[in-house]
Amino acid sequence: MKRVLIGVMCSAFVSTAITAHAAPDGAAALSIVQKNNCLGCHAVKMQVVGPAYQAVAKKYKNDPSAPDKLFTKVRNGGAGVWGEIPMPPNPNISDADLHTVIAWILAGAKS
Ligand code: HEC
Repeated sequence: MKRVLIGVMCSAFVSTAITAHAAPDGAAALSIVQKNNCLGCHAVKMQVVGPAYQAVAKKYKNDPSAPDKLFTKVRNGGAGVWGEIPMPPNPNISDADLHTVIAWILAGAKS
């Protein structure tokens, strides 16, 4: 149990260090959104069911609370910002992966 906890803490530390010091890795972020079915509803450049990730980056460009807000929104789902179609909750993506993806989207979703 103790070993598991240390492992979790280490990987959280490593991913925080990476997002704090470098632009989010596009290839890694793309594989996360693919694995978690985000791309079933989203694309980088055009609207599908949900908004284009580049449109999300533009909308929140000057909003310092965007990382927290979007983290909660993607985790719990919701509607009304882009239209009436709701995003369902996404309970299975890990916190670390979700942080990586949000940082990548807000940086312009570059591959
Ligand atoms: C079943 C379709 C669907 C899936 C799957 C989905 N989304 Fe969405 N997403 C939407 C819709 C629809 C909206 C617009 C919601 C609104 O108007 O408030 C949205 C909005 C968003 C937004 C902008 C939120 C806002 O309030 O501006 C982000 C960021 C986002 N999604 C990321 C993700 C990520 C990351 C995943 C995968 C973990 C994901 N989405 C999975 C449909 C989906």
